[in-house]
Amino acid sequence: MSAKPTTTLITFATMALLVFMSIGFPSPAVAEDGAADLARGQKLFALCTQCHSANGGGDSSFLAPAIAGLPAWYVENQLKNFKSGIRGLHAEDRGGLRMYPMSLWIRDEADQKALAGYIESMPAVATKREIAHPGDATKGVGYYAVCGACHAADGTGNKAMSAPPLVGMSDWYLFSSIQKYKTKVRGSAVGDVYGPAMIGMVATLPNDDAIRDVIAHIQSLEK
Ligand code: HEC
Ligand code: HEC
Repeated sequence: MSAKPTTTLITFATMALLVFMSIGFPSPAVAEDGAADLARGQKLFALCTQCHSANGGGDSSFLAPAIAGLPAWYVENQLKNFKSGIRGLHAEDRGGLRMYPMSLWIRDEADQKALAGYIESMPAVATKREIAHPGDATKGVGYYAVCGACHAADGTGNKAMSAPPLVGMSDWYLFSSIQKYKTKVRGSAVGDVYGPAMIGMVATLPNDDAIRDVIAHIQSLEK
């Protein structure tokens, strides 16, 4: 790793520490009602806005995806995956290496749940089209057929398959995630339950054009 990303990482970590200290310990013991959880989640979300934006719409310059409105079960799974190092610790995972240290600030399962609940309650933010050479949505239909089995035909995800929604995710993030699965930067860590399946699935996308096409189809599903 060159000096610059390391400095950036340290800067982020320092900022996170400052925010964290201002939020402070302790949290109430596991909140009894949902409202208290949401309030706790909202407070903790101050740790996240630096990269994911105040509205949770993400920021490509920080490699941070849109997260507002993602289902709580998926957010909770990912926060656990990052914290245990199943996701985000690969040496070539630039985005993951930024998110991994953040996950360590989330103290326990109650706080993971509170954050996940709050993020789910946030209205989804319409993402910009940022990819340089958008693909062909019509060609993407064929490629998407296999994806729909888990992520649903309309791209809204399927909890029973542990497959998150793909509609509403930024095009650049979909592209980078698919490439990470292709290169096993994501999904191959010991203990990753769901990642290995995705590594097999992205093998059905033969090249970057196919990736762009399937993303164009996913974007066409947006309501
Ligand atoms: C230092 C910047 C940074 C901060 C602060 C940060 N994140 Fe992230 N986060 C990222 C990046 C970058 C990624 C993308 C990782 C990847 O590409 O795999 C990410 C990914 C995620 C994901 C996975 C989304 C998905 O679709 O799989 C979740 C959930 C998430 N962050 C939640 C949070 C929460 C909650 C906080 C606050 C506690 C937070 N993040 C703080 C940078 C950050
Ligand atoms: C066998 C079920 C299955 C199929 C088929 C499948 N996926 Fe997935 N996909 C998953 C699961 C489960 C996850 C969540 C992995 C995790 O929890 O880390 C996922 C995650 C993803 C992610 C990361 C989302 C995020 O927010 O970080 C992308 C992108 C994705 N899939 C795209 C695709 C595409 C494109 C296809 C078709 C080529 C496809 N998937 C086919 C099960 C599947």
